[in-house]
Amino acid sequence: PRLAIGIDVGGTKIAGAVVDEEGRILRRHRVTSPATETDAIEDAIAGLVADLRADHPVTHVGVGAAGYVDADRATMRFSPNLAWRDVDLKGELAERIDLPLVVENDANAAAWGEFRFGAGADVEEFLMVTVGTGVGGGVVLGGQLQRGAYGFAAEIGHLRVVPGGRPCGCGQHGCLEQYGSGSALVRGVRDDAAEGVPGAVKLLDHAGGDPEEITGPLVSAAAAAGDEYAVDQLARLGRWVGEGVASLVAVLDPAAIVVGGGVSEAGPLLLDPMRESFVEHLSVRGHRPVAEIRAARLGNDAGVIGAADLARR
Ligand code: BGC
Ligand code: NA
Ligand code: ZN
Repeated sequence: PRLAIGIDVGGTKIAGAVVDEEGRILRRHRVTSPATETDAIEDAIAGLVADLRADHPVTHVGVGAAGYVDADRATMRFSPNLAWRDVDLKGELAERIDLPLVVENDANAAAWGEFRFGAGADVEEFLMVTVGTGVGGGVVLGGQLQRGAYGFAAEIGHLRVVPGGRPCGCGQHGCLEQYGSGSALVRGVRDDAAEGVPGAVKLLDHAGGDPEEITGPLVSAAAAAGDEYAVDQLARLGRWVGEGVASLVAVLDPAAIVVGGGVSEAGPLLLDPMRESFVEHLSVRGHRPVAEIRAARLGNDAGVIGAADLARR
């Protein structure tokens, strides 16, 4: 059986795994993303690969990276949440890793993972949404991953949801990512804490009084424990994403929408409000089938599993 390494480079962490041909993970490892220095990211990826291949005869490496990966599947044009700008990512990695390499957008890789082995395995047309540091997307139509003319299809985090809204790392304003991502969640809580909103102040206390220690997992854990303020924050995030998905469904008409990414680990606390808002904002409601919103079956492993599988093709 051919084994491949899949790497998922997000805005916060770099995850890697050895994956077999059935999409099973044999070994895994993760490190935090050095967000400000690209050489350090490439070194970290190479370090992960070296660690992962130590005990396994790996033949390929697939890297799913957060950002605009060109149609050549080599150049990272722009990463809104990492320091990459017009970098020959494949070339940089090839200097460090002596295995055949494939570079793909992180959410496209996650979509492919769910399509091959997860919650999208029973449909031919689906939309993947990843809710993490950023909001990512992947579109499979007719069983094919859609890359667009230039490689930049399915950048759903940059769908405009608020005209003239918050500035985004992509250079525009009002993007979904600024309202429906893990970073938006954290920023909202930090802002509320600074303004003395009681629920947020309580979370700040949980974080030992340091706003920097307010993280997505901290908010999710508080919500899971029944903290009302935290539950509301996740619900608000879910509603934004649901509204964005309704607009995307107007274009794509998928059979299912699969939701993954780190924040999706909050489960129904995120997905239930998302479903509600999705249905509410759907055009011609009552006169069309309502596509199912499903949790990613591979959870936050979709990206590494999909990247590994893409590398083998
Ligand atoms: C980037 C996408 C990426 C997503 C999730 C967005 O900010 O533009 O390329 O897929 O974040 O990481
Ligand atoms: Na994508
Ligand atoms: Zn944007």
